[in-house]
Parts: sequence; C-alpha cells; structure tokens
Amino acid sequence: MSQSNEIWQEELWNKIVNKVSRTSQRIGNTFPYVSIDGKYDAQPAHWWTSGFWPGLLWLVYRETQDERLKEIAISCEEQMDTPLLGFDELHHDVGFMWSLTAVAQYKLLLSAQSKRRGLIAASHLVGRFNVKGNFIRAWNGADQQGWAIIDCLMNLPLLYWASETTNDPRFKHIAKLHADMALREFIRPDGSAHHIVCFDPETGARLEARGGQGYSPDSAWARGTTWALYGMALSYRYTRDEAYLQAAKKVAHFFLANLPDDGVPFWDFRAPLQADMAMDSTSSAIAASGLIELSRLVPEAEQKLYFHAGERILRLLDENYSAWDEDEEGLLLKGTANFPKNTYVNIPHIYGDYFFAEAVAKLRGQRELFW
Ligand code: GLY
Repeated sequence: MSQSNEIWQEELWNKIVNKVSRTSQRIGNTFPYVSIDGKYDAQPAHWWTSGFWPGLLWLVYRETQDERLKEIAISCEEQMDTPLLGFDELHHDVGFMWSLTAVAQYKLLLSAQSKRRGLIAASHLVGRFNVKGNFIRAWNGADQQGWAIIDCLMNLPLLYWASETTNDPRFKHIAKLHADMALREFIRPDGSAHHIVCFDPETGARLEARGGQGYSPDSAWARGTTWALYGMALSYRYTRDEAYLQAAKKVAHFFLANLPDDGVPFWDFRAPLQADMAMDSTSSAIAASGLIELSRLVPEAEQKLYFHAGERILRLLDENYSAWDEDEEGLLLKGTANFPKNTYVNIPHIYGDYFFAEAVAKLRGQRELFW
C-alpha cells in the first residue's frame, strides 16, 4: 500500500471517530434514523434501524476503547428489550437490530445477557420461517403473510451466529433454506434482484414479484442490489456454499458495471431518467463493505479486483458525499429511503453512516464482523 493511501485511510477513519464522538454528545442513547436539516431525528426502539447507531458506536469503541461510547451503546441495547420482549412489533429485521447491538456486545465483551438477547432474536427469526415456500416472512401486514424481501439476506447472519454460538445447526439450516430460495426467486441471471417476492403462504406457490422500494417488479432497486451482494457474501462466509459466493460475485459485477463514475447510483438502476434524480449513497456504502468482504473470500487472483473496487467507492464517497462540518450530523449525504413513497430522499441515513464506517474499518485491516 502506498504511503499516501495509508495516510488517507487513517485521516478518513480519524474524521469518522471525531465526528461520532462529537455527535454522540447530542444524540446520546436515542435511535437516529435520518438527518433532517443537519440534525438526526429519534425513532422508537422498535424501528428497523435501531441497531445502526449503537453498531456505529461499537465500531468506534472497538478501535478507541472510548468508555463513553460503550455506555451509550449498552443503554440503547437495554432499551431495545421493550420491543424484544413485547413481541408484537418484531419483524424479520431482528437481524439488523440485534446483530449490531447484542451480538456486537457479546463478541466484544462476552456479555451473557447480550448472548441471551441475540438468541431470543434468532428464535424469533426462525419462527417466521414458512416451510411451504422456504422463506422467512418479512413484515407483519395482514396481507403480507407470504411476502419475502431481498433485505432479509442481511438478517441471516444472526442465524449463522446462533448456530455457532449454541452448537445447534437448526438456525443455520433455516438460514440456508431462505438463502437458497433467494438464489432461485430473487437474483436474476444478470445479477440484479427483485425487492419483494410474494408466495401463497398455504401452498408456498410463487404468486408475483413486486417493485417495493424499487421502480417496478423487474427493475433494480439500488439498495436491494447491495443487500443481495453483501448478504450472499456473508452467507458464503458462514457456510462455504459455493453457490452463495458465485451469486455475490454476479451481483457485485452488476452493481459495478452500472455504477456512475462518481460512485453513487440513482435510487434504482432502471428508473427512467428525469431531472434531479434521487441518489442512494447508502447502497454505495453497503457495496463498499460487501466488496471488501468479498475480496477476503475469493481466490487470491481475484482479491485485488474486489478490494480496489470497494476502496475506490470509499474514496469517491469521501470526496463527494461525506459531511465533516459541524452543521450536519450525518456522515454520508444523499441517501434515499423509499423513492416511490417519497420518504427521506437525498439525505443522510444512519445505515449509510454505519456501513461507511464499517467499510473504512475494514480498509484499515479490521477483519472481525458484528454480523
Ligand atoms: N430494509 C429497508 C431498506 O433498505 O430500506
């Protein structure tokens, strides 16, 4: 690695550490989701993104041992016991929520209570598995019993972790059945992916694909593409099933082939072009972390390709889409939550910040994952 590269990585990481340290003074043990007019909001503990802020704090704590950040992350995790034990508001995103809180704390500090929380969340996730259709149910809507979504690939690591931690393969078997279903039903031959696939919950028959947060059933929602990329890479990391590695590579190639030169895609790769297109920097951050992960999983001859692709995206995010001044709490500008519903377009999102920081930590050599 050239010295200038090393200096850039260290400077970027230090900027992240300093900013998180500063914003944590105001954000404290709340649950930020989107930054509006420069200031992060606060969501209830059951919102799907509640793990990302404590996860970001754990990323920084892991390198700095800053006890104040550790205490905030622990407090967030404790507040999440209300939805965890309340049950009614839980959905498949228990993976996002408790991988970056309970599993992170367990991996870093061996907390027995965190291990229990992670296992309760994993038990909820396996309870959402439908043996007809072999899918994990995504959401709780009255008409959504048969709905599965691509995002769920990022919830599967909680199950792989649960199997490793308990030495009981049941969790892993269910994760694999869902991942195999995603290979068949979600990921297309060209490496793009559906957002939503609906099954008949009684028979398991496939009914239809839906556009969801993407433009149409056959389009390519940018963030969904990167959930597929990183999610398949993680399924391969845990299982060594070659089909997952090939899928992760195929999706990575689709993403990279369609990525604009400045490193951030529009919200859907197949949305019709119009003035002031919504961007999605969160997908670039997820892709960067997924690509660097992939570089550690492929044969040596391919490693540089994926690593440099991830590194290049991080450079572009740093140069064009990051915010270091005091009047913006988000790290990464121009993320989009749900363009079809016109929610939270072209603003910072806490998950964009999380994956940006996670990818930069990997760039500096960190190999341990909370996933
Ligand atoms: N998992 C929801 C999203 O990516 O917006």
